[in-house]
Amino acid sequence: MSKITSIEPFLKMAKRKRSGRPMLIPVRRDLDFKLDENKISDWNTAGGPVFTAFLNTFSAILPVGERFFIDSVRAYRDQITDPELKKAVSAFIGQEAMHGREHEVYNSAFFNKVPAAARFEKRVKRILDGFTKHSRPVSLSGTIALEHFTALLADSVLKEPRLTNGADPKYAALWRWHALEETEHKAVAFDVFEAVMGTGIKAYSLRSFGLVLATLVFWGLIIPVFIEALRAEGHLGNLKGWRQFFRYTFGDIGMLRKQIGNYLDYFRPGFHPWDHDNREYLKEIDAFLAEQEQLATA
Ligand SMILES: [Fe+2]
Ligand SMILES: [Fe+2]
Repeated sequence: MSKITSIEPFLKMAKRKRSGRPMLIPVRRDLDFKLDENKISDWNTAGGPVFTAFLNTFSAILPVGERFFIDSVRAYRDQITDPELKKAVSAFIGQEAMHGREHEVYNSAFFNKVPAAARFEKRVKRILDGFTKHSRPVSLSGTIALEHFTALLADSVLKEPRLTNGADPKYAALWRWHALEETEHKAVAFDVFEAVMGTGIKAYSLRSFGLVLATLVFWGLIIPVFIEALRAEGHLGNLKGWRQFFRYTFGDIGMLRKQIGNYLDYFRPGFHPWDHDNREYLKEIDAFLAEQEQLATA
């Protein structure tokens, strides 16, 4: 009891602090990366085949995951009264739909190499459909938790150029575009959650439960398929590949290691995605788009 009352002033303070925060309205951008499917297993040569398979496995669930995010947020759209948030929700849906479309192209190349990954996508879809059907609040809570995951991975992609240094430019551009837009819309689903669930103890509990559940389901599903992808591609015993993988995820490059603090911050009462303000990366969008236009016309 004392624990519950002790965080209440914190929640109120966070609410007050939040009421002057500008809302960032995302922009839907229709980009087509024309990926070379022959490069699917080695598009990230510096990262090596194990790290490449890890990113490919992550890509495998993005289209069905993003469909789930769209459905979860759309289910509450009518309850949103703030016109700015309504606009942000429409743009969020547009961005996630575009991401799904581009990752479907990516995945068809991956599924040709690793048929188990296609079955994995279907399994994930069945699980997510089950959440959508049975509990809208849990689906929204899971969505903001998974959006937290994608925002952290996006932050790593944007802050650490070594993750894609020397990689095929088209694959690298797809991940960069996705990272920029995930950053741009990282608070939209969260703001919907707070608009409809509030910021009290019940909302905090549901939000925290969502992250625990999302973490268990995400890694529980992804790790076996990652291992299967490596087995199918003959890299399960590739020690050099594993060394590179650990360097990129938990070593000095540390795509995952460097986000552990940000990941845990989600459990802080009053947490908001923009408390971790990495808007500086969004300044790169115009230069990135100009570069893509040049590549498309070259
Ligand atoms: Fe996305
Ligand atoms: Fe997203």
